[in-house]
Amino acid sequence: MSAERTARTMSEGGIPARRVVCVGIGPGDPRYVTLAVRDVVAEADVVSGFATAVAVVRDWMTGTALPMSYRDQEEVLAQVAEEARAGRRCVVCLYGDLNVSAGELLERVRRHCGEVDLLPGISSVQVALARAGIALEQTLFVTLHARGEVEGRRRELAEAIAAGARHVVALPTPYDFMPRDVAAYLLTRGADPARAVTVYQRLTLPDESALHTTVRQLAEDVTAFSDLSILVFPLPSRPPRDEGAMHGA
Ligand SMILES: C[S@@+](CC[C@H](N)C(=O)[O-])C[C@H]1O[C@@H](n2cnc3c(N)ncnc32)[C@H](O)[C@@H]1O
Repeated sequence: MSAERTARTMSEGGIPARRVVCVGIGPGDPRYVTLAVRDVVAEADVVSGFATAVAVVRDWMTGTALPMSYRDQEEVLAQVAEEARAGRRCVVCLYGDLNVSAGELLERVRRHCGEVDLLPGISSVQVALARAGIALEQTLFVTLHARGEVEGRRRELAEAIAAGARHVVALPTPYDFMPRDVAAYLLTRGADPARAVTVYQRLTLPDESALHTTVRQLAEDVTAFSDLSILVFPLPSRPPRDEGAMHGA
């Protein structure tokens, strides 16, 4: 799908005939649903996606909800494809932003529905960065929330933490490789036990929390963390750079 087509379709407004629109619905609080996503949801005949994602946009829906679970996602997406072929305007909701750690679900939607349009949302990662006060361009992002080959991603994370050159944001793997497991793994890979780490849970939701700790302490923490957890490993703040030195003066 070309970026041009996505931009054109969305700037014209409306859901194109027989094409499913995938939308990012933000990190959970409905106030983080963009106006553009609300409009597309309000216009849709069918609104699908995981039940927790569909629930976030329920207030703007005028069509039929077709929520799915991990178990029935293939069947439900096949039904969405069928509805779209029949001319009904279909939207699939994805948590957060659809360009952040959402590739497997997007691929599944494409497998059933063919080419789709993409309407971005606000990622939980952006919210974590805002809470931590760190900039994306100074940060390495690693998702471990993926099936298949995760060993390479784990290594990439461990190398970045050991190098200590950038802030790092990581998504754990619910429930196989949770924050405590990540910290224990990093210690076996040469991480500084005193490196700061914050676990943000359920960002933007009423029971949002933040645990500020160290890699060593997290490795021993027996908390039952939420599946909605993000790890932020901030670097210590540095004094502002000397502009003269930057320009070689
Ligand atoms: C499959 S990824 C999808 C990420 C999503 N596309 C995004 O941009 O936020 C799911 C993971 O995102 C993180 N996540 C999503 N929403 C969250 C929230 N409200 N608070 C904390 N973490 C969240 C968790 O690590 C969760 O396991």
